[in-house]
Amino acid sequence: MIANAKDYEYAVTAAGRINVIGEHIDYCGGKVLPAALSLGNTVYIRRNGTDRINLAWTDVPDRISLDIGKLESYKGVKYADYFAACAYVLQRAGRPVLGCDVLSDCRVPFGSGLSSSAAIEVSFTAALLTIAGERIDPVEIALYALKAEREYVGMNCGVMDQYASACGKKGMAMLLDCATLDCEYVPVELGDYTFVIANSNKPHSLVVSKYNERRAESEAALAEINAYIPAEHLATISTEEFERVAPLMTPILAKRARHVVYETKRVAEATEAMKKGDVSTLGALLRASHDSLRDLYEVTGRELDALADAANAYPHCAGSRMTGGGFGGSTISLVRKDKVEEFRAFVAERYTAAIGYAPTFYEAEIEEGIKIMRNSECGMRNAE
Ligand code: GLA
Repeated sequence: MIANAKDYEYAVTAAGRINVIGEHIDYCGGKVLPAALSLGNTVYIRRNGTDRINLAWTDVPDRISLDIGKLESYKGVKYADYFAACAYVLQRAGRPVLGCDVLSDCRVPFGSGLSSSAAIEVSFTAALLTIAGERIDPVEIALYALKAEREYVGMNCGVMDQYASACGKKGMAMLLDCATLDCEYVPVELGDYTFVIANSNKPHSLVVSKYNERRAESEAALAEINAYIPAEHLATISTEEFERVAPLMTPILAKRARHVVYETKRVAEATEAMKKGDVSTLGALLRASHDSLRDLYEVTGRELDALADAANAYPHCAGSRMTGGGFGGSTISLVRKDKVEEFRAFVAERYTAAIGYAPTFYEAEIEEGIKIMRNSECGMRNAE
């Protein structure tokens, strides 16, 4: 824990996440199956009685001071824009935004595909509401954070990351209907198996523009389908309906839609498999999801493919797939608990041989979304 935690009034943490399955489905109005992680972002915060938000970070030397009267003017400012975005969204919604000193401690590696940005947005939004003495409603915070990401940062994402970061529960995955925000918590009980997270360490580039392009393609695909079938969301079209219209569609849009329609089916099957503790079915679905993201949705890339291939070649891995938006980032693999060390060595060797640099593995549990601690408790954490 950081040395000067006790100088702040509150420590507010929000989680990073994995998505077990249901990738690029949230903005298509379907169900996804994420889980919040013990890797999170913690915002240490105290009121300062001024009209400024003073930002500092544990891992970068920059210090940036935001004028609460000019919150719209920090777009694109490195490190600060996510914070300005959240304060701006709250202010526009008529919620109080008080002057404060902030120290942000991010334990979700940037560019890992584990939603560092959602963890920052959710923790800071919750922190601002906390110092203003406002009620904390995790769903409402997720929606503010989503607005910040879409309208200020410029990534036209779905609701999954912010929802998972805010509403996660220990030991549970969330079967989240992204059209209605109905959520069923599903225990992650995998018997002798556990999820292993591996970061491909691919340098980040063009992720936002490629993501926004896929989203536009999914909307174009729905528009083509709507010429034959009335449906509000791409993810609610059945596989039978899709197969009838697929030959009539623009080929690239049919590929994108095929991923969405069949991935949605896999989410339902994977949830059933998880409820039954049927690891081999779940693993097969993870593999099928990765193949579809590689061949149909085309969001994996050489690095994620090499990482998933290496994992899938390991005998005690039931299945592996990319998790998150793709174009780099991480995989999750279902691995026998007593073989995790051997698995890591096996995957690291193959991946490094194929790509030229090593992956990173993370230790993480499935955890609560938002955690708020008062000063004395920060001190206790500090003393750990
Ligand atoms: C990113 C986005 C999410 C979701 C995933 C893909 O993480 O932020 O909204 O679309 O990609 O499933």
